[in-house]
Amino acid sequence: MKPNILIVDDDESIRASLALLLDESYKTLEVSRGEDALEALNQTHIDAVLLDVKMNGLDGLETLKLIREHHEQPVVIMLTVLEDIKTAVTAIKLGANDYLRKPYNKDELLLTLERNLQIKNEHNEIRYLKSELDRVTESKIIIGQSAEIKKVFTLINQASQSNTTVLITGETGTGKELVARELHKRSPHANKPFVIVNCATIPRDLLESELFGHEKGAFTGALKQKLGKVEIANDGIIFFDEIGCLPIELQSKLLRALQEKTFERVGGTVTIPTNARFIFATNENLKQAVKQNTFRMDLYYRINVFPILVPPLRERKEDIPLLVDYFLNKYCIEQRKTIFHVSPPTMDHFVNYSWPGNIRQLENEIEKLVTIANAAMTTITPDLISEEIRETHSTDFSTEGGLLNDALESLERKMIQKALHKFNGNKTKAAQYLGISRRGLHKKLDRFGESLEV
Ligand SMILES: Nc1ncnc2c1ncn2[C@@H]1O[C@H](COP(=O)(O)OP(=O)(O)OP(=O)(O)O)[C@@H](O)[C@H]1O
Ligand SMILES: [Mg+2]
Repeated sequence: MKPNILIVDDDESIRASLALLLDESYKTLEVSRGEDALEALNQTHIDAVLLDVKMNGLDGLETLKLIREHHEQPVVIMLTVLEDIKTAVTAIKLGANDYLRKPYNKDELLLTLERNLQIKNEHNEIRYLKSELDRVTESKIIIGQSAEIKKVFTLINQASQSNTTVLITGETGTGKELVARELHKRSPHANKPFVIVNCATIPRDLLESELFGHEKGAFTGALKQKLGKVEIANDGIIFFDEIGCLPIELQSKLLRALQEKTFERVGGTVTIPTNARFIFATNENLKQAVKQNTFRMDLYYRINVFPILVPPLRERKEDIPLLVDYFLNKYCIEQRKTIFHVSPPTMDHFVNYSWPGNIRQLENEIEKLVTIANAAMTTITPDLISEEIRETHSTDFSTEGGLLNDALESLERKMIQKALHKFNGNKTKAAQYLGISRRGLHKKLDRFGESLEV
């Protein structure tokens, strides 16, 4: 996308020669008066202004002052005559980015323009990075070796090499944000911003301005122009977390930003292009939301182009010991404690527990254990772990009767129930999974009767 340059000069031949010079790398717009420059800035997205100082009507300095009252973003480069250095200094004080002496040198002009546009971009990125510094410095990696997580890695790799819109789904705490960050790290946008918008936590009435920015005076309290996250994410990735919470009235604006790659700031009339790549995440069932008319169907299809499902932890239990070790290390180092281990029975509890809060819950559990552990401790025993986790054990028959047959039947029942749940009630698949015939499964189901809930 070529940047838009506004040429403001009352000398037609200078405008024409500048336009010709810039034609290869930029889109240009020419006006002859300061008043027209302000009008153009209110109507079109402008990346830089080349502004002549001596003009009839509003002169360059007056125009500059008015530009800066409303427009913080565009680069402004003044064109002054050789002996007019004082004016140049005033211009810089008023917010011009640079100045060039007339008659200008072509190479110098091109270089000055390019350098200032680059500085502006970097400035925007730095501003974003500063606010996100703590997240950025904390480099997190995705731990896991199960077939399920390997599938996720394959999808991340495929998605990272294209510009497709990605929708990451999964239960709470499964690592959706982590997946989005990993995708960013592996993509060509890696050194560009990764901007997060959490649609569930930003107050509804601030969301539009957070996303798309606002103009000065757009509403009470809008004292300055503000850039939205979509604009800050330009050339990078914008990650919409909890997209199911985006109010319906903002969904059409987002759809347009996705389809046409343009948007307007709140209270603004200028159409701004965006190069950002859009990634979404949700732990809500968006199809259901579409049925209930709380989520636009067209938006759903537009964002669900490349789905990545992050499986719950209970479906990749082999990753649990790896994650336990990883978090133990992490928190022992963080809390400056000697690294210790969990005892085998403790690990059994961890592996057998269903982790409704997924990896976040596991991480919190380990952090708590490291916090309460004292220096004399070398291993973590089951008595230290949360009661809820200690109480679940698939081979815990303490509550069953004393007869072996009763215990075996109870185990059978639990395993069949789990298998049927895993395959949404599909008996052929459940039987295969359990290593018995479909007929065998039917017999057992008849025996257990109605008491078995899937
Ligand atoms: N595979 C993993 N390896 C290491 N840490 C992980 C893994 N998955 C998740 N985590 C950690 O678990 C926590 C929760 O992950 P994350 O915030 O990405 O989940 P989420 O799916 O976005 O959750 P929510 O739906 O609640 O927003 C984070 O601290 C994250 O670093
Ligand atoms: Mg999240």
